[in-house]
Amino acid sequence: MRILVVGSGGREHALCWAIAASPLCDKLYCAPGNPGIAKLAELVPIAAMELDKIVAFARDRAIDLLVVGPEQPLVAGLVDKAEDAGIKTFGPRAAAAVLEGSKGFTKDLCARHGIPTAAYRRFTDAEAACDYVAAKGAPIVVKADGLAAGKGVTVARAVGEAQQAIRDALLGGRFGQSGSSVVVEEFLEGEIASYFALVDGAHALPLVTVQDHKAVGDGDTGPNTGGMGCYSPVPAMTEAMAEATLNRIVRPTVAAMAAEGRPYKGVLFTELMICRDGPKLIEFNVRFGDPECQVMMLRLKSDIVPALLAACDGELNSFDLRWHDDAALSVVIAAKGYPEKPVAGGPIRGIERAEALPGVTVFHAGTKNDSQGRLVAAGGRVLNVTARSATVAEAQALAYRAVDLIDFPDGFCRRDIGWRALRRG
Ligand code: AMP
Ligand code: GLY
Repeated sequence: MRILVVGSGGREHALCWAIAASPLCDKLYCAPGNPGIAKLAELVPIAAMELDKIVAFARDRAIDLLVVGPEQPLVAGLVDKAEDAGIKTFGPRAAAAVLEGSKGFTKDLCARHGIPTAAYRRFTDAEAACDYVAAKGAPIVVKADGLAAGKGVTVARAVGEAQQAIRDALLGGRFGQSGSSVVVEEFLEGEIASYFALVDGAHALPLVTVQDHKAVGDGDTGPNTGGMGCYSPVPAMTEAMAEATLNRIVRPTVAAMAAEGRPYKGVLFTELMICRDGPKLIEFNVRFGDPECQVMMLRLKSDIVPALLAACDGELNSFDLRWHDDAALSVVIAAKGYPEKPVAGGPIRGIERAEALPGVTVFHAGTKNDSQGRLVAAGGRVLNVTARSATVAEAQALAYRAVDLIDFPDGFCRRDIGWRALRRG
């Protein structure tokens, strides 16, 4: 098969790593990719949002399977364009990617179908939203409706803070069009968790559990990021909680989307709050998590390509995936200044030394080769140092041994990835 992956981060590097290992894959392309992916795939200089160029390239090269990594091209309709051109594509069409593209749509869907989530109201008028917040009191949560690169959510401790977030979005244009409508929702008490499943339009096939660390600093301090590291499996996500999430949130959503003429296929990434009365939806993402995908790919024992094909072909019902019993853990090395102002261009050395440790794989998240061919940082999150070992504790120790072999003076990482699992013993 000839396979094209779209995207340029650590998630796409991990997907390419897994796909390149498949005996079904004869030729792998990645658009636009990165220097790490270049070792596995032929890079195509087309950006992820150049939808028509991607489709033209895929037709031209007779691509048998297109795999879309990031949410922006999914929400913008890349899958629609590719499928309409006859290309088999992993990922939701725009009408289904709206599960991530509009928080308001998702809240209304939950309301129509009895899917547990925080109580909410949608607003386009700032004054009405501010009055609602004043009536409800704090803590309360304000969310920009559309895509905002993980920055559109304000968990407000005070009414004034929530009202400021509302004005910033609706009057100040802080999130552009994405913030021209907001969701104001009830603050939920509990532990945040994630749940991933492959979906084929009708059936959901659960993947292993993974927990991300969103805050930039050790001990979950500082501003939120796209994710500073993660581990799998997750003790907090017990079998009972996973079952409840599948039966009360994921399956009802898949059924609701099909019933409303928006069949969902691809990966469905559910963020949920583990509350006293069970799991409640926080939000959906319509793609693999980044860096969650990296630890998943290290734990995946089965060939990924047949699973992606089964999701495209509506055949997940009779499908099974095998996983390594080992744990996996990924540490993000970010450029100093991330998430506000990451330093670009810092030189990186020693990845080969790190990867020489058995069980370690270093995925490139934001790197490039400079004019002299040296590897340098080109993004906020730069590397994902990922390790597989018998337990989370061992995977953590191995990942940090690998981190310490990498010479990247302009980088930093959290030193406590996996702490929630380790605390439980
Ligand atoms: P999101 O971008 O939707 O993942 O939200 C960012 C973070 O805000 C989540 O990871 C939660 O920690 C928090 N959050 C979002 N919605 C709520 C809520 N209704 N109650 C409490 N915390 C929330
Ligand atoms: N790591 C969180 C995300 O991919 O949204």
